[in-house]
Amino acid sequence: MPSINAIIERLGATRTCDANLTSDPWSTPSAASQYGPGASAQDGRIRMAPAQAPIPERYTSASAQELRNEIVEARHRLGDRLLILGHFYQRDEIIEHADFVGDSFQLARNAADRPDVDHIVFCGVHFMAETADILSTPSQTVTLPNMAAGCSMADMANIEQVERCWNRLTDICGTGRDEDGRQQITPVTYMNSSAAIKAFCGRHGGIVCTSSNARSVLEWSYKRGRRVLFLPDQHLGRNTALAMGIPLERMAMWNPMRPDGGSDAASYSTASIILWKGFCSVHQRFTVGQIERARRAYPDVRVVVHPECSMDVVNAADGVGSTAYIVHEIDRAPAGSAIAVGTEINLVNRLAAEHPDKTVFCLDPVVCPCSTMYRIHPAYLAWALDGLVAGKVVNRITVDPDIAHDAKIALTRMLEVHP
Ligand code: 13P
Ligand code: SF4
Repeated sequence: MPSINAIIERLGATRTCDANLTSDPWSTPSAASQYGPGASAQDGRIRMAPAQAPIPERYTSASAQELRNEIVEARHRLGDRLLILGHFYQRDEIIEHADFVGDSFQLARNAADRPDVDHIVFCGVHFMAETADILSTPSQTVTLPNMAAGCSMADMANIEQVERCWNRLTDICGTGRDEDGRQQITPVTYMNSSAAIKAFCGRHGGIVCTSSNARSVLEWSYKRGRRVLFLPDQHLGRNTALAMGIPLERMAMWNPMRPDGGSDAASYSTASIILWKGFCSVHQRFTVGQIERARRAYPDVRVVVHPECSMDVVNAADGVGSTAYIVHEIDRAPAGSAIAVGTEINLVNRLAAEHPDKTVFCLDPVVCPCSTMYRIHPAYLAWALDGLVAGKVVNRITVDPDIAHDAKIALTRMLEVHP
């Protein structure tokens, strides 16, 4: 495996990315206005975002080895009653303890498929743990080890904003059926959204998607609806719609920060897809210039990116897909090949280490980790597991039953479209 410094030198870059942020993770959750260190540090944190109370000092001052021992011991004691799920972006010190590692779709399905366990500990971010709660049985508990592990993109749409948008769009487009019996607008929400927004989609004939099934979900939606309101990630919506042949002129933007979404009524009524103006700060960092540089340094390089990247980046790449797709692409690449990746650094670094016979590197040499995924530190995992051993469920994620009911409708539609 070429060293990261050798790759950096060949790319002609002067700095290197680092998954190990220097700030400690327990100082950030109380910073009310920030997501903490990482790519989303500049995003405005929402007022109502869940906060994390300090955990006992014995966890925050423990060494990495002590925490590891504690987690191993607690897992052993909980045995088959426990399922630890880990998203691909989690740090290695967490991944090593996960029973299952996957993308957000695989993790949702895994939570639904394991009614046999008592406790699901979700090492990911808040919307993923909410989804696990909705899809698991009422007697199972779901724990998010650090309550402040949100998602800045998911926080770019709240239910009040979505209701306002919907009222305006239905005023413009009407609520009746078109000549083919389709509803005027189908709301489609990316998994990266609150349970309340998923419930909204369930109530309004809509559906949830993830980056691994967005196209199938949009196809489902256009059979039932004339237009799609896609939230909250504009990039996933735009990239998927373009791949389906919908031209940019048939896309409108809804900016929740502007009166009436910031565009005129005609642009909404003629649109095939209305994109919510949200984005992921990690993926928005990738640029076409970085791809060009990677191609200059490694002429045979294959560039694979996540669909949360901008349209220009996706168009310049060789492949686009979810985190599971990226893992698969690197697995199947022949020995000796070079693959440049546009996604979060913890996953890229892990893939590079797992494939020493290939050159795997991140497109952005200074990209920061996802600051909220980073909040799941082994200290929080040890604390949450010790609680379960002692019969105490800490940081339980419980979605209000009415919201869960409607959200489950939208999630079940997704699971049926993309089994
Ligand atoms: P995946 O569905 O590809 O796991 O993506 C989730 C996510 O949050 C990417 O930023
Ligand atoms: Fe949210 Fe982006 Fe982090 Fe994914 S990488 S959890 S979209 S902030």
